[in-house]
Amino acid sequence: MTKPPLHILITGASAGIGAQCARLLAAGPPVRLSLAARRLERLENLAAELRAPGVEIACFHFDAGQRESVLELARQARAAFGELDVWISNAGAGLRHNLLDATEEQMLAQFRLNCLSALWAYQAVLPDWLASGHAGQIIDVCSLGGKSGYAFNGAYSAAKHGMSAIGDTLRQELQQSAAGRRICVTSVYPGPTVSDFGASAPDLTGGAAVAQVGRSRSSRNLLARAISSRQSTEHVARAIVRTIRSRQPSVYPHRWGSFGVLLNNLLPGLVLSLYRRSAARSEV
Ligand SMILES: NC(=O)c1ccc[n+]([C@@H]2O[C@H](COP(=O)([O-])OP(=O)(O)OC[C@H]3O[C@@H](n4cnc5c(N)ncnc54)[C@H](OP(=O)(O)O)[C@@H]3O)[C@@H](O)[C@H]2O)c1
Repeated sequence: MTKPPLHILITGASAGIGAQCARLLAAGPPVRLSLAARRLERLENLAAELRAPGVEIACFHFDAGQRESVLELARQARAAFGELDVWISNAGAGLRHNLLDATEEQMLAQFRLNCLSALWAYQAVLPDWLASGHAGQIIDVCSLGGKSGYAFNGAYSAAKHGMSAIGDTLRQELQQSAAGRRICVTSVYPGPTVSDFGASAPDLTGGAAVAQVGRSRSSRNLLARAISSRQSTEHVARAIVRTIRSRQPSVYPHRWGSFGVLLNNLLPGLVLSLYRRSAARSEV
């Protein structure tokens, strides 16, 4: 008996990395794609471009910052194509601000979007996977910013740290049961990526945050330039798609990503201090 196509759900598929994942998956083996975001028209246009024999696509409006919307998305996707095999929590957005000015509302909004949305996805799919012994996979698109804090991105970075932590926690808790051990949880840590992400993040610092990013990219310091170099959405999406069915716990698509994290753990602060000093030097 031939296996049915995988049912893969991608949040934040209306742009950037999520849209690129949909393109790559549509070009591969037969697949059922559930695409979700707030801009439904963009999803429908993408689906029209990608539908082909063996590529079934359903589009859903949803707000990743609302628990009920995430649960409803799971219900609708299952109604369209049956049980989910892979859930990719990719929807996300940033905020540039000075931490000392952060409001509770801003912090909580970033947590809902960039951390709790992943938790709500677990709660939406895992009880059924555990009850049926389904070998599903969760893929959380975290960030290198979820491995270390960085200036002017406090709320985003804290929320992505949270996303990374709940993924690590879930992976361990699932080891407690045979059904849990069939489920895979993968955390992906992209570095800076060329997408609408930067432009769509409000800058409440009066331009200081955007200026710092620009200085680091043009710095004479090789390490600073390396860790702030940008990848294409295709590069990141390929890394995500490769993890499907791979059972990898974590993936670092950025060439310097895992090295930077390791270096920062072994010599706390070194990477950030080089980054900061080079940014300051190139200012003069
Ligand atoms: N770009 C980078 O440098 C970078 C680096 C590390 C990690 N990441 C992570 O990669 C993921 C994708 O980012 P990207 O670079 O592809 O950014 P992007 O081009 O701005 O795309 C973001 C996607 O998330 C969706 N989204 C945002 N807020 C949403 C909400 N409240 N509800 C539902 N969907 C929402 C957007 O769709 P709608 O606006 O249509 O809702 C869009 O499809 C994010 O989780 C981001 O944190 C990005």
